[in-house]
Amino acid sequence: MGCRIDLLFFLSIAFLSSYVLADLIVTKVDRRIDLTSHIIRIISSVKVENDGDDPVSAFLVAFPDHHAKHLAFLSASQNEGKGKTKGPRASLPIEASKPEGTPPSLEFYSITLPKGIAKGETLTLDILAVFAHILKPFPEQVAQGDFQLVLFQDSAYYLSPYLVKSQTLTVKLPDARIESYTKLEKSKVQGSELKYGPYENQPPFSYTPIVVHYESRKPFAVAQKLVREIEISHWGNVQITEHYNLIHGGAHLKGEFSRLDYQVNPQAKGAGAFSRLVARLPPRVHSIYYRDEIGNISTSRVWSDSKKTEVEIEPRYPLFGGWKTFFTFGYSLPLKDYLFQSEGKRFLNISFGSPIEELLIEELIVKVVLPEGSRDMYVSVPYPMEQWQETKLSHLDIVGRPVVALRKTNAVPEHNQHFQVYYKFNSVSLLREPLMLILGFFFLFVACIVYTHTDLSISKSSPSYLAKLQWDEVGQYSLVDFRKSNLLVQTAVQQLENIINRRLMIYDKLEVSLRDLSRTGNIQACKTARKSADTLLKELSKELKPLLAFLQSSPQAARFFSKAEELVAKERELQEKLIAKHSIIVDCYEKKLSGREIENRIALHQQKITALRQEVDDLLEFIEGI
Ligand SMILES: *[C@@H]1O[C@H](CO)[C@@H](O)[C@H](O)[C@H]1NC(C)=O
Ligand SMILES: *[C@@H]1O[C@H](CO)[C@@H](O)[C@H](O)[C@H]1NC(C)=O
Repeated sequence: MGCRIDLLFFLSIAFLSSYVLADLIVTKVDRRIDLTSHIIRIISSVKVENDGDDPVSAFLVAFPDHHAKHLAFLSASQNEGKGKTKGPRASLPIEASKPEGTPPSLEFYSITLPKGIAKGETLTLDILAVFAHILKPFPEQVAQGDFQLVLFQDSAYYLSPYLVKSQTLTVKLPDARIESYTKLEKSKVQGSELKYGPYENQPPFSYTPIVVHYESRKPFAVAQKLVREIEISHWGNVQITEHYNLIHGGAHLKGEFSRLDYQVNPQAKGAGAFSRLVARLPPRVHSIYYRDEIGNISTSRVWSDSKKTEVEIEPRYPLFGGWKTFFTFGYSLPLKDYLFQSEGKRFLNISFGSPIEELLIEELIVKVVLPEGSRDMYVSVPYPMEQWQETKLSHLDIVGRPVVALRKTNAVPEHNQHFQVYYKFNSVSLLREPLMLILGFFFLFVACIVYTHTDLSISKSSPSYLAKLQWDEVGQYSLVDFRKSNLLVQTAVQQLENIINRRLMIYDKLEVSLRDLSRTGNIQACKTARKSADTLLKELSKELKPLLAFLQSSPQAARFFSKAEELVAKERELQEKLIAKHSIIVDCYEKKLSGREIENRIALHQQKITALRQEVDDLLEFIEGI
């Protein structure tokens, strides 16, 4: 399979063996391939010597194209030797390069050496290459209880345009079964590591394919798309909302999934699935939430100490190979840890990628939402990516908030570096929202005064009366015309919700009147409250009838009409019980019975009321979801 590709590839580079690129030689290279996760890292420590007469200022690294197309991240730094490695080392500039006369099956990157290498000098480079989607599940499908096996291919020799004097290769495997590996001269297994070499004096472009076939138990967590929204509020918060489209990128599940088997023995029958992900957040994070299409998931766990906060994210169901899930993860961070000022500008300095461990993100979109009124924005990013600007309108905004958007494909954890968004902001703008709120409340207040001085009975020109007329008409005459209109069904459903909600509010008022009664003992006030409630309920019942008739006759409403009917029935039952309870209590007060006696008399009613209220709420929620 893959070996044949390698063989062709091997032939094509045989042409090159006479091709000598420069005066550099690699005197020693130690390569370490880390296969413990689905994101593959190759770390090479390369000692280079200038064997020519002229100074050289660039070093070339080569990848076979079937690897190069999966290269997600490449970095190089100069290793100054022992004792000088404190602190992070500056990474050297790298660019793709295509030296003349090289075959299309190889891709080159040129590492710029700022100081160059003079004649006879040596230096050591540490090169990190990170690959995504490079492992092939083999077989492609596994049964529910099996771990997946994967194939990895590379060369036992360091593929280089230079002569390589001495080299070793170590392949670090997960602590699990090694099905097979290519055995060569000087190759051995040591614990969970495969060792190749040392090999001496390999000419340029030496290549010997090796294939490792091994068991991988790590979750292949792949976000096909992740949209991170980072919203700055000058009131002290950075709110981060992350929308994940996640897939298990490993071997697909063979046959049907048996939930029963899984529930009986999740360890064995969920072997290849992953049921938890870990997100590492900063220490002072707060307001963490995690929800999916159905609602909040509270099974996630949070640990925190002074250095970090860890959140365990547990999807509603285990994710097997090829399975997908969608969820939203949100949290808030203190603004002062991330927003700084410099030279009259403010800037946000925050990490780019996902806090979830070992996640590969095929498409990462980061949107920074700045406060309304921000201007002169610009972004400083650690590596090239697509950028654009948009506007976000939320409540209380007048012109909208400026949004800086960034897009990166194939993001691996190494891309999770800090980036900065600079902008100017006038502090006076900060007062706009509170001022608007104050004005808003003022107008609301005025409106209330006007409203309470208006006649509240139904007048012949009031919108609700006209709506009622319209429904009566709909119910009786012109159904046929309207049947096609889904919109009308939706409006009817909204009206239904509206009426039920108003009735629930009346019940709340009745409860309040009972509480007042127990506090003040004013029976008359309680009776008055009851009377006005009765009148209102009767009015609402009249509005309800034509609505139900309309829904019953609408084909579009057929799939949920029974629920609507149930809602109305349950709600009516709730009303009966509540009225009964109200009467009993008022009666008891008139007879001056003790609180305990009253409790006893209404206990059963109260139970029923609580249950009914829950049922009504659930049904309402269902109807709202239509
Ligand atoms: C979900 O959790 C968030 C944050 O804790 C909360 O604001 C929201 O009301 C919850 N939603 C539901 C439906 O429980
Ligand atoms: C951004 O924050 C990181 C981590 O705290 C820090 O290393 C870096 O220097 C900061 N960058 C700027 C421009 O302040």
